[in-house]
Amino acid sequence: MSAPTGAELGKKTAAAMALGHVHDGMALGLGSGSTAEWFVRLLGERIRNEGLTIACAATSKRTESLAREQGIPLRPLDDFERLDLTVDGADEIDPALDLIKGGGACHLIEKIVATASDRLIIIADESKLVPVLGAFPLPVEIATLGWGTTMRRLDEALADLSPSRQGGDIPLTRRLNNQHKDDPVLTDEGNYIIDCHMGRIENAAALAAALNAIPGVVEHGLFLGMASRALIGSTDGSARDVPGS
Ligand code: 5RP
Repeated sequence: MSAPTGAELGKKTAAAMALGHVHDGMALGLGSGSTAEWFVRLLGERIRNEGLTIACAATSKRTESLAREQGIPLRPLDDFERLDLTVDGADEIDPALDLIKGGGACHLIEKIVATASDRLIIIADESKLVPVLGAFPLPVEIATLGWGTTMRRLDEALADLSPSRQGGDIPLTRRLNNQHKDDPVLTDEGNYIIDCHMGRIENAAALAAALNAIPGVVEHGLFLGMASRALIGSTDGSARDVPGS
């Protein structure tokens, strides 16, 4: 693989910094997405070079397969009482380290794994830092059964939360496959993803509560108060540590 530059270098640098939080004997959650994949590759290297003994749970089929390729020991999540640490990426990170995740359609398992972990460290390049969440469309995973009905309930809930938007129309799109444009994306668990184009999320806690109350919503991509720290890599190859409050 050629040496990364630009945002890729930022992702790799953040992933390398996260490796400093990994110690022998730990139980680790492995996130999903291109930044988390840097972490998985670097962790594989460290296991090969140092004979580190760790056990990991993966948050997606893709991460699982990369981890296997790298010789990282994997176990099913249910085998772990707790995980010491999960390292994962994010689509947006606000100053309180609240997050939008799910750009890779894995946020259901990512949230289950993060919640089973004593600490969640987010790794990202600096483009993910935002003053307010919402420019990145919020992913909401919904059951395929009755998905049209669930989308209508979503539409109503979002309109109620955004009375200033006359007609309340926040565009909602069912995520489609990049290659086969007519096919909806199916998550690893066989659900659809609805992307909610919020623009700006004024009250993330109220939005999370409203989404949790809709039958058919399996999980949304708001990760509030979950990250212990964010490690942010820059295009110049430096990285900084942003601890949570
Ligand atoms: C997948 C995620 C990813 O962590 C998020 O989309 C960031 O991905 P990347 O590191 O490729 O930008 O939440 O569901």
